[in-house]
Amino acid sequence: MADMPSDFWGGWIVVLTVTTLIALGWLVANVYFGPDDAEEIAAHTWDETLKEGTTPAPMWWFWLIFSTMIVSVVYLILYPGLGKFAGVLHWSQGHEIESSAAHYDERFGAERERIAAADVAVLRSDAAAMRAARSVFMVHCAACHGADAGGQAGLFPDLRDGEWQWGGDAAAVQQTIAGGRRAVMPPWQSALGDDGVEAVAGYVVALSAGRGDAPEHAEAGARFQALCSACHGPAGAGNALLGAPALNDDVWLYGGGRDQIARTIAGGRSGEMPAFGARLDATQIRLLTAWLAAREETATAAAR
Ligand code: HEC
Ligand code: HEC
Repeated sequence: MADMPSDFWGGWIVVLTVTTLIALGWLVANVYFGPDDAEEIAAHTWDETLKEGTTPAPMWWFWLIFSTMIVSVVYLILYPGLGKFAGVLHWSQGHEIESSAAHYDERFGAERERIAAADVAVLRSDAAAMRAARSVFMVHCAACHGADAGGQAGLFPDLRDGEWQWGGDAAAVQQTIAGGRRAVMPPWQSALGDDGVEAVAGYVVALSAGRGDAPEHAEAGARFQALCSACHGPAGAGNALLGAPALNDDVWLYGGGRDQIARTIAGGRSGEMPAFGARLDATQIRLLTAWLAAREETATAAAR
C-alpha cells in the first residue's frame, strides 16, 4: 500500500516536526532559564543614547508559548500530523465527509421521500418545505416570472391570479414546469383584414366584460365562432390543452386594451415556457407546484 517515496517524505515530516519542536523548546528554555548575560547585552550601544535593555521577557509570555507547545504535542498525538501516523483518535477528513454525508442522507433523504410522496395541499402549509420551494423559484423562475411570481405584462404570465392558461391542477402545473409549453396563437391579419381585426377585437373586449351577446357585435361574434372558438371555446372560456387562454375574463397576458388585443389578433403570439424536467428533480417540481398553489391562494384571498 505505502510505496517507498511517500514513506520517505512521511519520515522527513516526522523528523522535521519533532526537531523543530525540540529546538523551539530548547530556545525558549534558554531565553528564560539560561545563563544571565545581562552584562554582555548592556554593553551594546546602538547609537549614542540608544542602548539595548536588560528587562527580562515577561513570564506570561513563557506560559503562553509553553502552553501552545503542549497543545501542539497533544494535537500531534491525537490527530494525524506526524507523517503517516494516523493519530490515536484515527480521525480523518475522509471519514468526516463520509459520516456527514451519511448524516445528511439520514436527515434529508427521508425528507425528500416525504416531499415526493406528499400531497400538494399538505406541502403548501409546510413552512420548511415552502422556504425550500421559494429558493428554488428564486434561482430558476424569478428571472422571468418575478420574485413574487407576479409575472411581467406582455411577456411572462402572473402565476398568482388563479387563471391558468395550461391548467391549474397539480398535475397540469407539474407538466408545465417539467415539459415546458409552447403556445401557438396564429396571426389573423390576412384572414380578417384591418376592419375585421378591429371588429373582432371589439367583440373580445365585450366578451371579457360579459357583453358578448350585444347586438352590435353579432357579426364579429359570428367570425369569432368560425375562426376562434375551436381553440378559445364557443363562450371564450379557453382550452387548457392548447394553452388557449380564457377571453371571457379580465386576465390578460398581452394586455386587455382594445389596441393590444387587436395587435395580438393581427400578429399572433407564441409564448414559450422552457422545460425544466432535466434541470429539476421530481421533488423540486412538486415543491414549486405547491408553492405556486400557495401564492394563488394568498393572492385570491387578498383580492376578496
Ligand atoms: C390554434 C388555436 C387558436 C386559435 C384558432 C385562436 N387562438 Fe387566440 N390564442 C391561442 C393561444 C395558444 C394563445 C396564447 C398565446 C401565448 O400565450 O403566447 C392565444 C392568445 C390569444 C389572445 C391573448 C390573450 C391574453 O391573455 O393576452 C387573444 C386576445 C386571442 N388569442 C384572441 C383570439 C381571436 C380573436 C381568435 C380568432 C380570430 C383566436 N385567438 C384564435 C390559440 C388560438
Ligand atoms: C425564460 C423565461 C421563463 C422562465 C425561466 C420560466 N418561465 Fe414559466 N413561463 C414563461 C412564459 C413565456 C410562459 C407563458 C407561455 C405561454 O405563453 O403559454 C410561462 C408559463 C408558465 C406557467 C403556465 C401558466 C399558466 O397560466 O398556465 C407556469 C405554471 C410556469 N410558467 C411556471 C414556471 C416555473 C415554476 C418556472 C421555474 C422553474 C418557470 N416558469 C420559469 C417563461 C418562463
